[in-house]
Amino acid sequence: MTKPEPNLFLTEEQTAFFHREGYLPINVITSQEEVARLRIIYDRLFQQRAGREVGDQFDLAGTDEEDREAILPQILEPVKYAPELESIQFRVNAASMAQQLLGPAVRPLGEHAIFKPARIGAQTPWHQDEAYWDENFDYTSLSIWMPLQEATAENGCMQFIPGSHKLEVLPHHTINYDPRIHGLEVDEVDPSRSAICPLPPGGATFHQSRTLHYTGPNLSDSPRRAYILIFGLEPKPRKVPNDYYWNKQKRTPSEERRRAAQKKADSKGF
Ligand code: NI
Repeated sequence: MTKPEPNLFLTEEQTAFFHREGYLPINVITSQEEVARLRIIYDRLFQQRAGREVGDQFDLAGTDEEDREAILPQILEPVKYAPELESIQFRVNAASMAQQLLGPAVRPLGEHAIFKPARIGAQTPWHQDEAYWDENFDYTSLSIWMPLQEATAENGCMQFIPGSHKLEVLPHHTINYDPRIHGLEVDEVDPSRSAICPLPPGGATFHQSRTLHYTGPNLSDSPRRAYILIFGLEPKPRKVPNDYYWNKQKRTPSEERRRAAQKKADSKGF
């Protein structure tokens, strides 16, 4: 399959808005045909529980027990489990728009899929993405969040605090202060300033690594699917490391599965 060429670009107004506000919604980043194709791949990956055994699929907002339905299932690196995701228009347009925003040295830093099941899908509490990452580095990066159906305030579209990308990384804690839960929540935020960003299918929001963001619970009768690509510059080592103590307190089942899978692979001499 030949790699597509970028066919959509940001305007100067849009890039200026992103740098001023720390986020940006756009109405289209790929075609409706591609969105329909991605939806099938996406649902298959979640139904097959792709990556669960190695710690790449887990419940982001729950305790992730085997016998309990996940309230916010997430797959890290879905392209590992569906290589056909490699050459999609969304990825090509996202990469080129990320270059428009952060410069030509931008490279892919990862991707994930977050699924909010109908009715039971949990909120993703207010957080900054950088709070999940390595405390020894500063990041210049952005996430591009694309819904595979309409995203509304009712089913869990993105919300942002404008200008919050200029903050330091704020103190966070795991959801419900439960060390078994992967998801983080910022200790304090004033949601009254939130910018709510409903989108059509195949639209996208962009946000920086320190922009405070949130999605509400899925109160609708249909699932809410989001596919997220992350791009950025080479992370810079900090002169004075941060202390992201909230990550050190975590004891998640997905990390246990990751360690067990690694051990198994090591013992086979891979
Ligand atoms: Ni996030």
